[in-house]
Amino acid sequence: MSQQKENWGSRVGLVLAMAGNAVGLGNFLRFPVQAVNNGGGAFIIPYLVSFLVMGIPLLWIEWSMGRFGGKAGNHSTPYILDTMTRNRFWKYFGVFGIWTNLAVAAYYCYIESWTMSYVFHSIMRTFDGMTQSQVAQFFTDYVTIGTSTTGIPFEAPIFYILCLLLNTWILSKGLSGGIERTAKIGMPLLLLFGLFLAIRGITLGESGATAEHPDASAWAGLNFLWNPQFDSLTNPSVWLAAAGQIFFTCSVGMGTIHCYAAYVKPKDDIALNSMAAGWMNEFVEVVLGSCVVIPIAAGYLGLDWVRENASFGMAFQTMPFLFENWGPFLATLAGVFWFGLLFFAGITSSLAMGTPWMGFMRDEFNFSREKAAWSFGMVVLVLGMPTVLFYNYGVFGEYDYWAGTVSLVVFALAESIIFSWIYGIDKGWAELKRGADMKVPEFYKPILKYVTPTFLLFVFIGSVFSPVGGDWMGALQSLFSGSGWPLDNGSLINQVMNIGLKEQIAAATDATTRTNLEDQLMFISGSRILLVVVFASICGLVYVAYRRRMKEGRV
Ligand code: ALA
Repeated sequence: MSQQKENWGSRVGLVLAMAGNAVGLGNFLRFPVQAVNNGGGAFIIPYLVSFLVMGIPLLWIEWSMGRFGGKAGNHSTPYILDTMTRNRFWKYFGVFGIWTNLAVAAYYCYIESWTMSYVFHSIMRTFDGMTQSQVAQFFTDYVTIGTSTTGIPFEAPIFYILCLLLNTWILSKGLSGGIERTAKIGMPLLLLFGLFLAIRGITLGESGATAEHPDASAWAGLNFLWNPQFDSLTNPSVWLAAAGQIFFTCSVGMGTIHCYAAYVKPKDDIALNSMAAGWMNEFVEVVLGSCVVIPIAAGYLGLDWVRENASFGMAFQTMPFLFENWGPFLATLAGVFWFGLLFFAGITSSLAMGTPWMGFMRDEFNFSREKAAWSFGMVVLVLGMPTVLFYNYGVFGEYDYWAGTVSLVVFALAESIIFSWIYGIDKGWAELKRGADMKVPEFYKPILKYVTPTFLLFVFIGSVFSPVGGDWMGALQSLFSGSGWPLDNGSLINQVMNIGLKEQIAAATDATTRTNLEDQLMFISGSRILLVVVFASICGLVYVAYRRRMKEGRV
């Protein structure tokens, strides 16, 4: 039995910590890019529908599972699933709920460390007088280890290690003394910074247009995002992207929500708290997230530029330059606000990623809080260094694909089946409603039982078999005409086999490009081995824990 006596300090603290877990870099960096790449207003409807039929049900499922597990002293998914299913297999499946967090934290903290470094550079006025391409080059140099941007050697790994140290230190202060306190400071500041920038984004209008970018208009950016296009409803690729964003932004399918909820007292509300945190995340993403990067970038560089350059690094490559248009004082302030906002968004999420590992080690191996926190820091350092050092070789992207994308869908599908079909929807529904401070709409019961698992199954099958260019109709025609299913290189099957990269290697015309691509293949394969080794090691720990439980007569 767990020796842990921790609980949340207050209801506000719990909701802010849960909202902080969800509100992250995904809200400000990933959401706008996904929206732009999937047709702007075409994306919003599938996105909102995914939230209603998948996001909300998964939030309820995970909070219920977590509080249920916590009652029996289990704070991580292996033994939460074990308690719910009484089947030897599921606890090993629960390893996903620890592994995903270690692997996501490994690369997520790297982005978080960029935000720390960019706050520093905003204060140092590093971007003063730089052209747009120089600002963009600064970012490229930053992630190319060994190239010093400012005279600080190995700047990126140094900031990464600092960021991990900070996370670990806060985690070692515990749930209410560390995580809750950070969320109570970070979330209000984030909202404040976000509002400041969103107002600037909305009021920018067409005043940023120049001779070089005469069509620049913040309105065009906002219109693009908010003009609904109903034809997207029949495009499965847009649905896949929308569902993927809901996973990432709500932090569902990860194991963090289970862990946080395991520290809720048995009779405390979960139904309303989960909605408060979930809707706060949606507000920050849909309202604030869409009012900053896209309108400001479109306001100075034009919508066409945004469409052509939408990428994860876009905010780092453009915003410092755009802020410089506001004069030195406002530029520094905006830089600190923007990258400070990203930092708070990031750290309140990465702290959550530390808790399932800590909960597990404390439950099963009686680790002290400090030891559990520092061991988390060490594992993430080992797992994360390759994403820092070999960023340009695709290691970062590889972690994001397997841990930050595929694993979430697989785990969410499994847990929705466990909750509704193995544990049983009647018991699950009663668990959700226990202590509820809101009336949980009854029509959600069949949604949890039928719609959510089916929706998740479609999402999973859709990612395994994505056809070339997302053209599902064309792929079906090709299949029925006997020409087979044209798999896209982004489909899970082709990803496993590295088809895209192998095609690029075969098509390379010069030796340097070929060597570079071959190196990429080697690093990607190496990072997969590392991820598998970590997964297998956690399975080993779960087995050892099981033996200990047997010995102590706890199974
Ligand atoms: N939910 C976190 C984010 O959006 C992981 O970044």
